[in-house]
Amino acid sequence: MHYIDLRSDTVTRPSPAMREAMAKAEVGDDVWGDDPTVNLLQERVAKMFRKEAALFVPSGTMANIVSILAHTQRGDEVIVEKESHTFNYECAGAATLAGVQFYLVIGTNGILTPDQVRSATRPVEDVHVPKTKLLCLENTHNRGGGKIYPIELLAQIYDYTKSHSIKSHLDGARLFNACVATGYEPWQYAQYFDSLMFCFSKGLGAPVGSIVIGSKDFIHQAHGYRKMLGGGMRQVGILAAAALYALENNIERLQEDHQHAQLIAQGVSQIKKFQIDLENVETNIVIFDVAKSGLNAYQVVELLGKKGVLMVPFGEFLVRAVTHLDVNQEQIQLAVKIMREIFA
Ligand SMILES: Cc1ncc(COP(=O)(O)O)c(C=O)c1O
Repeated sequence: MHYIDLRSDTVTRPSPAMREAMAKAEVGDDVWGDDPTVNLLQERVAKMFRKEAALFVPSGTMANIVSILAHTQRGDEVIVEKESHTFNYECAGAATLAGVQFYLVIGTNGILTPDQVRSATRPVEDVHVPKTKLLCLENTHNRGGGKIYPIELLAQIYDYTKSHSIKSHLDGARLFNACVATGYEPWQYAQYFDSLMFCFSKGLGAPVGSIVIGSKDFIHQAHGYRKMLGGGMRQVGILAAAALYALENNIERLQEDHQHAQLIAQGVSQIKKFQIDLENVETNIVIFDVAKSGLNAYQVVELLGKKGVLMVPFGEFLVRAVTHLDVNQEQIQLAVKIMREIFA
């Protein structure tokens, strides 16, 4: 069967042109700082985000953990949103590797307000409580349904954290989805964070790789932690070439993925057994509730899978579909038609 794979935007395969760029990449030993393609990527990204330096890493998970390690000491506290990727899907790395404690705050579709950040901050004068050292936010927010952080909120939150000596880090795995949807440049988001990361291996279509961005000092420390975690890679220009290709060719087209997500969301809204908040679909992620169908998310996903449409359960009654560059409009329309046939 030819599947329409909407499980994640990580399922994309490198295109022939991307593979050609990879094959032609100039390489060197990056652990010695010798790989010209990696160096070019890091310099280009730092410039694009108007920060001093950047560091190519194997995954989004490693990008987040080296950032947390670089910003904190054991026993510090980190404010994170309860549905964040860092809290839910990174194997408690912050607890086990950095020895920090998360202070969880429940956001609205993953979005925190400045007041929530303020009330999650520990009083500095109290010796009994941990030190609030870092705030981690996520934009777009995966479990929030691809929600975009309103930039005004980020500005207010940053004003607050800066004046309270709290560092701020952005999990921007899908930051370019936010940029394309809002028209903001990456640096406009980056100005409100001490560090951030984004992934090449999601909507941008590269097979591997993420990048951490920040000050020279911060990147120097993150670099050491990358090595400690076994993330020093050698002739990795082959992968950096895919990342450079993605930056040059696959950003603007994210708009198509957003249009496709709208088509899915519209289709879902017409199925009475499903519920969706259409206003919440802002980028390439669609989350809908299947409780009224009398089935749970696992059963719905199984039925869809048998007809060739792949999605993932995202809670007992929540299903997630993600659009990406390997699914075209015709396939999206077919997926909607199949959903209607099964559930209408
Ligand atoms: C928001 C977010 N952050 C981080 C990651 C981790 O990326 P990776 O799978 O490359 O470790 C993901 C992966 O889906 C993600 O959605």
